[in-house]
Amino acid sequence: MENRELVKAAFEAMKYAYSPYSGFKVGAALLTKSGKVYSGCNIENAAFGPTNCAERTAIFKAISEGEKEFVKIAVVGGKDGKPSDYFYPCGVCRQVMAEFCGGDFEIITAISEDDYVSETLAGMLPRSFSPEKLV
Ligand code: THU
Repeated sequence: MENRELVKAAFEAMKYAYSPYSGFKVGAALLTKSGKVYSGCNIENAAFGPTNCAERTAIFKAISEGEKEFVKIAVVGGKDGKPSDYFYPCGVCRQVMAEFCGGDFEIITAISEDDYVSETLAGMLPRSFSPEKLV
């Protein structure tokens, strides 16, 4: 699947963001090796702590349906759903990616469907603490 298509799916997912506290909307679309796309949005909570990022929503949806191998993820976000810059996943989401994805996993961040850049997980989370460290 082309990056542009995945970015489009992330924008679609952003529409469902539940972010009444920050007003910041995020959407993500994750491509599995089997060719499926799992999307996710951020889901906030009045207690703040339970808030879940869009990337983790997408990843957890996929994992909970038996998918464990991923190729790339597109992420978009901005105040009131209007991206003003490329959106980079938070540290917690990068760590969750490191649990399931190799260093070559691609993270695509977009401002619009025509304006996006991509970087590897290894580039965004160098020297990560990953599952193989525990064996
Ligand atoms: N957020 C994400 O969805 N992904 C990230 O990588 C960072 C932040 C959400 C959480 C919260 O709902 C809002 O953005 C503001 O932090």
